[in-house]
Amino acid sequence: MKDLRVGLIGCGFMGRTHSNAHRRLNNFFKLGHRSVLKAICDTNAAKASAFAETWGYERVETDWRKLMEAGDIDLVDICVPNFAHKEIAIAAAKAGKMVICEKPLALNVAEAREMVDAVEAAGVPNLVMFNYRRVPAITLARQLIDKGRIGRPFHFRAVFLQDWTISADVPQGGDALWRLDVKAAGSGVTGDLLAHNIDCALYLNGPITRVVARTETFVKERVHQLTGKVEPVGIDDACIFIAEFANGSLGVFESTRYARGHKALKTFEINGADGSLAFNLEEMEYLDYFQYAGSDSDTRGWRRIHVTNSEHPYMDKYWVPGLVIGYEHSFLNTLADFVAGIESGSPAQPNFRTALQTQKVCEAVLQSAKTGQWTETGVEL
Ligand SMILES: NC(=O)c1ccc[n+]([C@@H]2O[C@H](COP(=O)([O-])OP(=O)(O)OC[C@H]3O[C@@H](n4cnc5c(N)ncnc54)[C@H](O)[C@@H]3O)[C@@H](O)[C@H]2O)c1
Repeated sequence: MKDLRVGLIGCGFMGRTHSNAHRRLNNFFKLGHRSVLKAICDTNAAKASAFAETWGYERVETDWRKLMEAGDIDLVDICVPNFAHKEIAIAAAKAGKMVICEKPLALNVAEAREMVDAVEAAGVPNLVMFNYRRVPAITLARQLIDKGRIGRPFHFRAVFLQDWTISADVPQGGDALWRLDVKAAGSGVTGDLLAHNIDCALYLNGPITRVVARTETFVKERVHQLTGKVEPVGIDDACIFIAEFANGSLGVFESTRYARGHKALKTFEINGADGSLAFNLEEMEYLDYFQYAGSDSDTRGWRRIHVTNSEHPYMDKYWVPGLVIGYEHSFLNTLADFVAGIESGSPAQPNFRTALQTQKVCEAVLQSAKTGQWTETGVEL
């Protein structure tokens, strides 16, 4: 068993999900490596110290550059806000470290390209944490599509709805609210929420070739937490776009943080000539399947697959059939595939280059929202 010595940067929400995955990796997956939690880094020293205690990191740093110089770090795991991804990932690659980076890969396509160049020039294993691919029901959807169960696809539709920024009193910027500050986040719901749906779309239905979009910023000014001043809001609060896929199907995507009553309603549906598949994150252990081809008309109908059998993706790693796993396991499954990819030489996806394609779609969406025109994405998959 080899050590995979981890330096994790950012001990917020994602720092917790990634740390949990590292800690539990070898409890559930048989691998040739085990994660060793060497260093936790956060600019907030007190938060980092408490985090080290909770999760069992050996040491605390407040400057991520220390991890690059450290001889005892193999993998840099980036869980900081979007604005800091590029500099850290490039430095890690140059230092010869493996890199896992949170999504979206970068603030924009230009940055994402630099990051791809850096990891490819260094030849280091790299992955972007689009974790939803490894929700077993979504992985199963991909397997069923690959088996031809829905036939020729016609439609892909996806939403990601939240409601936490409706109040004009919510400030922007700084701790916890960096997502509302365009300089820190790059965009609003497009990069934060739709990036997940776009990654799932590319994974399930192939390249998106062009898009037309409409975005809206409902609250135009908010107090900035760092300056204390009322400043213009530069993010998209809501985004709706139509997409064309290379396979000839059409896509509809919607995301907002103004859908009163919704906290994380993430759904998709794909309709093909021979069947349809539907997923809802609020009931993530299910995949809904409508089988047309090969079914009898008197029993034809939507069926709910309880994705908990041992032959379902990842489920043989956990409990007995019928018992569910949760959100956190999507990170564990992703980390396990990343490590297995290092060991097999067949790298896990989405790597930086694949995540660049999602970034291209996001940028085309934002561009289209400005011009009102159909916009080519330039996706290469
Ligand atoms: N995969 C997912 O489903 C998912 C979910 C949420 C967030 N994310 C992504 O994860 C990243 C982090 O989001 P979060 O929700 O964990 O944020 P967060 O605000 O909860 O935590 C970010 C942490 O990073 C620290 N930090 C900021 N700049 C730093 C720097 N330069 N050096 C060291 N530490 C720094 C902050 O002090 C904070 O503790 C973002 O890119 C976000 O888009 C992904």
